[in-house]
Amino acid sequence: MPSTLPLLDGRTLPALGFGLYKVPADETQRVVAAALDAGYRLVDGAEFYGNEREVGEALRRAVDTGLERADLTVTSKFWGEQSQSADAVRTSFVASEAALGSPIDVYMIHWPRPARGQYVDVWRELVALQAEGRIRSIGVSNFTEEHLRRLIGETGVTPAVNQVESHPWLPQHELRAFHAEHGIVTQAWSPLGRSRVLEEPTIQRIAAAHGVSPAQAIIRWHLQLGGALIPKSTHPHRLAENLDVDGFSLSDDDLAAIAALETGERTGTHPDDRQ
Ligand SMILES: NC(=O)c1ccc[n+]([C@@H]2O[C@H](COP(=O)([O-])OP(=O)(O)OC[C@H]3O[C@@H](n4cnc5c(N)ncnc54)[C@H](OP(=O)(O)O)[C@@H]3O)[C@@H](O)[C@H]2O)c1
Repeated sequence: MPSTLPLLDGRTLPALGFGLYKVPADETQRVVAAALDAGYRLVDGAEFYGNEREVGEALRRAVDTGLERADLTVTSKFWGEQSQSADAVRTSFVASEAALGSPIDVYMIHWPRPARGQYVDVWRELVALQAEGRIRSIGVSNFTEEHLRRLIGETGVTPAVNQVESHPWLPQHELRAFHAEHGIVTQAWSPLGRSRVLEEPTIQRIAAAHGVSPAQAIIRWHLQLGGALIPKSTHPHRLAENLDVDGFSLSDDDLAAIAALETGERTGTHPDDRQ
């Protein structure tokens, strides 16, 4: 069972989950079933991924065959490209809940879309949904320190989680320090740099020295930073491999060598650029 991290709302979050972006709908049930069989207990989904109905079907089958729903953490995110009104938030939330056929444990704002200037209003609606008991934990994704300061300053409610791009090229040390100061869990998306960071010779050397794969070395690095992460794979053997990271530990020298890989390069969009 993956270890958990405490959330500021008193709940906990599995440190290691799995992601579902770009998992085709017709493969999703198989992938979710394989991940749950491997031992994952956090499913990172979103309205935008277009596969929530299939995630829900896989969860239902797993619960029917003995898995405790209470042991699972199901995540979804408000996309908000068309509208950021309170009604739009509520409509999207209800649609995701209906597609999943299950309560949503962690609901996030997918992108701040700062040029629209509405993320504080969107956040107020998440706070309201949580107060109504509809969502266990509320968080954000792709928020910078500036966005977080505004959110916290104007509402007094701190997100439990900020899901951001992070991998050895983009460790996000400053943002992680801000999160630590405010009790926010950092959850890394594209934690393997969409597989591109696996090619780094330093990562391959460290992995070989520990007798593990490059993916396992990077996942271990994330966990030793104290954060959460959600690597994606559609292959059952990789899902299992990515979870099997407790049998070794990176040394200070390994961590220093990985720190030297920081370039700031992103594999995805900058938070200020998506509108
Ligand atoms: N909040 C956001 O804005 C946002 C943005 C992007 C992603 N996300 C979330 O983060 C999750 C992960 O990010 P991601 O999918 O972009 O990138 P990622 O997890 O860094 O990388 C996924 C890639 O790595 C490969 N891979 C996985 N395990 C491997 C292993 N052990 N050995 C070799 N290759 C391996 C996968 O290939 P195969 O599938 O072929 O195995 C896939 O090509 C997403 O699924 C989504 O849930 C969130």
